[in-house]
Amino acid sequence: MPAVILKNPSDFGEWRGAARDLLLRGAAPDEVEWRTGEISDLFDGGPVAAIPRAGTPPRVPEAFLELAEAVICHSDPARFALLYRLIVRLQSDRHLLSVAFDEDVAAARLLEKSVRRDCHKMTAFVRFRETPGTQEGRRRFVAWFEPDHHIVARTAPFFARRFSDMDWMILTPKGSASLNGDTLSVAEAPAQKPVLADPTDALWLTYYANIFNPARLKVKAMRAEMPKKYWANLPEAALIPSLIANASARVAAMAEQARQNPPAFHDRLRARRSTEEAPAPIGDLATLREEARTCTRCPLHCHATQTVFGEGPEAAPLMIVGEQPGDMEDLAGRPFVGPAGKLLDSVLAKAGIDRSAAYMTNAVKHFKYEARGKRRIHKSPNAGEIDHCRWWLGMEIDIVKPRLVVAMGATALAALTGRKTKVSDMRGRMHELAPGRALLATVHPAYLLRIPDARLRKEETERFRADLETARNWTYD
Ligand code: URA
Repeated sequence: MPAVILKNPSDFGEWRGAARDLLLRGAAPDEVEWRTGEISDLFDGGPVAAIPRAGTPPRVPEAFLELAEAVICHSDPARFALLYRLIVRLQSDRHLLSVAFDEDVAAARLLEKSVRRDCHKMTAFVRFRETPGTQEGRRRFVAWFEPDHHIVARTAPFFARRFSDMDWMILTPKGSASLNGDTLSVAEAPAQKPVLADPTDALWLTYYANIFNPARLKVKAMRAEMPKKYWANLPEAALIPSLIANASARVAAMAEQARQNPPAFHDRLRARRSTEEAPAPIGDLATLREEARTCTRCPLHCHATQTVFGEGPEAAPLMIVGEQPGDMEDLAGRPFVGPAGKLLDSVLAKAGIDRSAAYMTNAVKHFKYEARGKRRIHKSPNAGEIDHCRWWLGMEIDIVKPRLVVAMGATALAALTGRKTKVSDMRGRMHELAPGRALLATVHPAYLLRIPDARLRKEETERFRADLETARNWTYD
């Protein structure tokens, strides 16, 4: 059996020359043994020369060249034979590569994928350290990397483009690459791991720790993206266990800080606003309403038509709190004017409550929705949005000083109590909201509108009326 001895384990040109010669001689794939190492002659010890040349120059599709250039870099010793088998078969089947389930094609695709992944990891995980010595003002850097495959020559052009303003050397057990001025060189010989230390390592670690966002942490995805085998050569890897361990505490601290600080762009808008007109100190509902008109505490203001503030007498003994304005309220600028508002009006009347004597408001003052074609579909506010808007609700309560606050639905209840609570756990009974101020929880009228079964809807509407009657009795009797 003839043996082909390749000098360079990943030189596609060298393999192609040998494969071409074998094809011309008509050598069958299982007649050839492929090896790498030092050679005096490309073909060693076999009867290749005895096989008559077929004569027709081999032709392969462009896609094969692309595939083979990647596969040749794999460290699997069987790759040369696999590629030769493919090239022989391609001479009689030009479309072979499109047969994804073909054993040879599938095997080559797997090797190609693994090489591409290795290249990607190399471009992401090479860490340069500065070394002394400059040439015409260019700084010099060295990096050590341990690839799975023979990918140094394949990835070197990426580094030459990316780091063209410095001289560098990347050393690996599978060869090295270097850039000196404009000259990019690649060598196949295995390199020794250098001793690398850089005074700026500490700076890099500080930077890494600061850009690490614990709120985005997904440990499984992180491990998949940055497998442990690369950690040994990544200075920042030493930080990872403690960053993961402290992530949840940092997220809690960030949330707490976010609750206290409005977003930065809000400050900028406020600064601009205050140069235009100094806001009057808040003391009455009219001023508060005016202030809320330009609220940017959370992003909901970006898409809503306007702030829908509460309405009603400034000293109303009863305050009724809903979730957020709906589509019609957003357009009208008034709370509870849409379908849920109409139902509420009729139940309030049955419960003996005069709507115009109560203060009607919402936990969140901007309409949150998802645009679907021409329709705006209601979306529930999230915990952060509720939290940002609590400031306004708190001010409304401080100014109106109601005897009783009715929370309709879970959002209103969360805004009033400051925690997520089930309506069913507190419903229909008096709770202390603050000294001298009671809280009663009930369902939201929109919930009643969504009940499909008419009998059940009637029963639930009766319970809602009973809750409002309890509210009326407590407030006015
Ligand atoms: N739903 C609410 O919670 N508030 C409104 O103003 C309208 C509908």
